[in-house]
Amino acid sequence: MHEDRGKVNSLADRDANPHVAAVIAHPGKVIAVMVFIALGLVYITERARAQQRAGMTQQTNGSDRRINSDAQRMLDEGRQIFRFDTFGDEAFWGDTLKLHRAIMGTKFGGVGAGVSPKTALAVGLKVDMDALPADLVDKIKRSRVNLDDPATTLALIKLNSVLGVQGQFNQDGSLKSMGITCALCHSTVDNAFAPGIGHRLDGWANRDLNVGAIISLAPDLSAVTSLLRVDETTVKKVLAAWGPGKFDAQLFLDGKGFRPDGKSAATLIPPAFGLAGVNLHTWTGWGGISHWNAFVANLEMHGKGNFYDPRLNDAVKFPVAARAGFANVRNKPDLITSKLPALQLYQLSISAPAPPSGSFNRESAARGEDLFSAKAKCSVCHVPPIFTEPGWNMHTPAEIGIDDFQAKRSPDERYRTAPLRGLWTHQTGGFYHDGRFETLLDVVNHYNNHGRLNLTEREKRDLVEFLKSL
Ligand code: HEC
Ligand code: HEC
Repeated sequence: MHEDRGKVNSLADRDANPHVAAVIAHPGKVIAVMVFIALGLVYITERARAQQRAGMTQQTNGSDRRINSDAQRMLDEGRQIFRFDTFGDEAFWGDTLKLHRAIMGTKFGGVGAGVSPKTALAVGLKVDMDALPADLVDKIKRSRVNLDDPATTLALIKLNSVLGVQGQFNQDGSLKSMGITCALCHSTVDNAFAPGIGHRLDGWANRDLNVGAIISLAPDLSAVTSLLRVDETTVKKVLAAWGPGKFDAQLFLDGKGFRPDGKSAATLIPPAFGLAGVNLHTWTGWGGISHWNAFVANLEMHGKGNFYDPRLNDAVKFPVAARAGFANVRNKPDLITSKLPALQLYQLSISAPAPPSGSFNRESAARGEDLFSAKAKCSVCHVPPIFTEPGWNMHTPAEIGIDDFQAKRSPDERYRTAPLRGLWTHQTGGFYHDGRFETLLDVVNHYNNHGRLNLTEREKRDLVEFLKSL
């Protein structure tokens, strides 16, 4: 076959083929035909490309349209849940801990001095300026609003402007109860109006938030003391040790308030963005997003739902959880499970924000990128572009050269490779699960020693610039 075709096309045969002979005799026509064909081809490819482009943005059939509108609906729902859903946890934060009474103060029938906006901002609570009516913004600007008065805090909560805090109000304007949402810890604001007041930034870790100080305000900590079987002084000591940007999700499982070195056992609040493509979540890889969302909503926020994780029946590792039956929680009605799909989609949709231009040195970062995947061997675990392993993204404490305290408080006794995107957004509080490395250079120095990487000072700086660029 090949030989035959070769013959027909070969010059030697041209006289035997009248068409070929005719074409050769009229070179002008040949060029015209070829130009015509070429133009035709260009036209066809361009049309195909245009159709392809249109297909990407427009729905081509009913199924595509349905998928798009479902995704959009779930995204909107997920955003609402993430920001405003308490899953019925008012029963804990309000009715049990009576935190709302501490916020109101005696003036409104609560206890103590109450929480003024200044105090609220000081413990790291954030205010969404887009939820404030224009005249209030104006008044704040002209210092006509009393930021020392708990009444103003109540007004701000009523406007749904305090991130992650949901109030239930009596007719007289006092708080009946209150609950918390995911946004409390996993959102912040851009400070566009004033420090602590600005536009919402969902997914950002609130590293100013002093959760321990907030819980300590609660007039009635008996639910916590009886769960942990310790006295109130001990609970308060544990809470005071957390500090800004930290929370201890394992405290209610194992009752460990402090590490063997005497420091707090709390971990940093991680970002809830840049998580698409990441298999296991949390510092110690407890599970996928939906596992952890159900875990937090039920066991930490104390919402009302269903949760199942028999790993918590381990009475040696998780004495508190095993005692309290956290491995199998059932509530009717279940206010959590139906929210998991949209909540997950929303978190997967929040990509890590790009660093501001000028916040890192581009040339140095480009060199750092090369080092990251070569000499420094970072990309062995932090695989670009997700910066964690595609697969089972877990490592033993020895592999990353740190102690096993926090790892041992989790089912797999390992640390999860942190996805590094958006590191620039959480530079306060330090790095690694407990913030043990104050700066990114400290992190790089740690790997340099642990892995005997022999990085020069300049190479370390380049790596840091690359990390800042993610
Ligand atoms: C009181 C603060 C607080 C609240 C409220 C909270 N979280 Fe978290 N979240 C944390 C902390 C602390 C961790 C790290 C826990 C660990 O690793 O042990 C975490 C971890 C996570 C992670 C893992 C991120 C990663 O890097 O893989 C996700 C996802 C997450 N939270 C989502 C949520 C959602 C959704 C809600 C609401 C249902 C919520 N959180 C409520 C503090 C909070
Ligand atoms: C053996 C796998 C592995 C290698 C190799 C590795 N890392 Fe990590 N990395 C991890 C794990 C696991 C964590 C989480 C540690 C923790 O939870 O305390 C982490 C955490 C980090 C963090 C902190 C993230 C945060 O949110 O606090 C940074 C930054 C980081 N790595 C950068 C690097 C750089 C730079 C390199 C190369 C010099 C590197 N890593 C090499 C596994 C690895």
